[in-house]
Amino acid sequence: MDEKFDMGDRRPRCSASCGRRRRMRLGYLAVFSLVALAVVSFVRPGTLRLGGPWTLGGSASFRGGAEIKIPGALTTDTAATTHLVPLEAHIMSKCPDALDCMRDLVLPTMQRVVDKVNFTLSFIGTPTGDGGVECMHGPAECMGNILELCAAQLYPDPKIYLGFTMCLLREYHRVPDRDLVEDCALEHAVDIAQLDACATANDGQTAMDLLKRSVRHTRDVGVTKSCTVRLDNEVYCIRDGGEWFDCPSGGNVHDLIINIEKKFRL
Ligand SMILES: *[C@@H]1O[C@H](CO)[C@@H](O)[C@H](O)[C@H]1NC(C)=O
Repeated sequence: MDEKFDMGDRRPRCSASCGRRRRMRLGYLAVFSLVALAVVSFVRPGTLRLGGPWTLGGSASFRGGAEIKIPGALTTDTAATTHLVPLEAHIMSKCPDALDCMRDLVLPTMQRVVDKVNFTLSFIGTPTGDGGVECMHGPAECMGNILELCAAQLYPDPKIYLGFTMCLLREYHRVPDRDLVEDCALEHAVDIAQLDACATANDGQTAMDLLKRSVRHTRDVGVTKSCTVRLDNEVYCIRDGGEWFDCPSGGNVHDLIINIEKKFRL
């Protein structure tokens, strides 16, 4: 893909198997959080699960002008719930492959079949022995992940939290700059005070637990590369190093939708 950002560097890699990792310990997060409270604030991301009754309506505009239109009000009942097709994206918040994958495959798919899937946004990282999490692109990425998990927890409507996450990903190299986070929050009606509260509660421990749960889940299902898309709990497609791998049809939106609809009717 075209490198849109002047990173003064080559495109960062996002395979867990390569690249240098830096650690984010709890202590680091606590200090980070205190500073955050005083000076800047954060948002935290989480594992998102769509469940229970939820309503969708209207549209949310994405930075860059794309519009996501979501079918009108949807109420899940027990019968419908059992048919939802599990769809999951495993990402890192400072990874260009995550941008490609969310922008070109996941978002366009969600716009059309949001009412047929049980979507989860998960993160890739390494739980450490001291109770922290190590992120491939450093502590800033862990914080970005946390903000995106917080948004998902606060706003289970994918139109909101995926819009917010996409907004951050479009400038992944800046994550988690305060200006960027505020702009994206404003654009997607995410309450920045609630986001801050989520990221900093209990000295950041609560948010760290959220991130830990997410990265452990990713590890448990054997996913190491950002971005990995899984359909019905099996790897469907991987975006790595600017290319699609293991995709039945090269990351084609239409084919993913057909596959979801087939499984939905089962
Ligand atoms: C969505 O999937 C999660 C597991 O990933 C499950 O716990 C949850 O009950 C599912 N929700 C619905 C509405 O199917």
